[in-house]
Amino acid sequence: MEPIISPSILSANFARLEEDIRKAESGNPDYFHLDIMDGHFVPNISYGPMIARTMRRITKKPLDAHLMITNPDKYIPKFVDAGVGLIYPHIEAPYDVYRTVQLITDLGAKAGITLNPGTPVEWVEPLIDKLDAVLLMSVCPGFGGQKFIPNALEKTRKLRQILDELKPEVHIAIDGGVDTTTIGYLYEAGANFFIAGSAVFKAKDIGQAVKNLRAACQTSK
Ligand code: DX5
Ligand code: ZN
Repeated sequence: MEPIISPSILSANFARLEEDIRKAESGNPDYFHLDIMDGHFVPNISYGPMIARTMRRITKKPLDAHLMITNPDKYIPKFVDAGVGLIYPHIEAPYDVYRTVQLITDLGAKAGITLNPGTPVEWVEPLIDKLDAVLLMSVCPGFGGQKFIPNALEKTRKLRQILDELKPEVHIAIDGGVDTTTIGYLYEAGANFFIAGSAVFKAKDIGQAVKNLRAACQTSK
């Protein structure tokens, strides 16, 4: 599968969001990633549908939203309405995950599911027929700029095997500590959808940083 690069705007400068998005676009990313945090599911609060709507106005690129919130069913319609095309709630949450995934697809968006670093990949098996992507966290969710947790590599290999048997077209997305070093190992292990916050928006040249991530996948093969 070709690599997909989705810069996470959590690390962008919100005082000049549009400018940062233009810079990132010059590196030709495939998506932009929205990190939605409610201060309950994770110990941080980020932003909600209003910023998703703002992003929809700023860019024509598809948007993916990572929901770190305890009540996704209440907000999923608002994100779909705001123009988000791919939504990943977490699998470790006090709600009926199957119903939540069903809600996303019923509303016409693509569904993914997110797994924390400590969650076994086998948990996704009952959901696979409904999914377009599985998002493996390679940091504990809540903050950008954390250190990559290497167990994501073994989990990626294991998950790729499971998906190859059941539904090979499902993307494996990785979120947390993705940079030009880790991305090569992850791509080799079978991931193809890469979310990167600080490696893109904290770089001196934001557009070049997007290009460098893609190039690092190609040289790894
Ligand atoms: C963390 C978020 C990530 C984060 C990645 O909860 O899900 O998307 O922005 O940031 P970096 O790439 O800096 O690790
Ligand atoms: Zn994320």
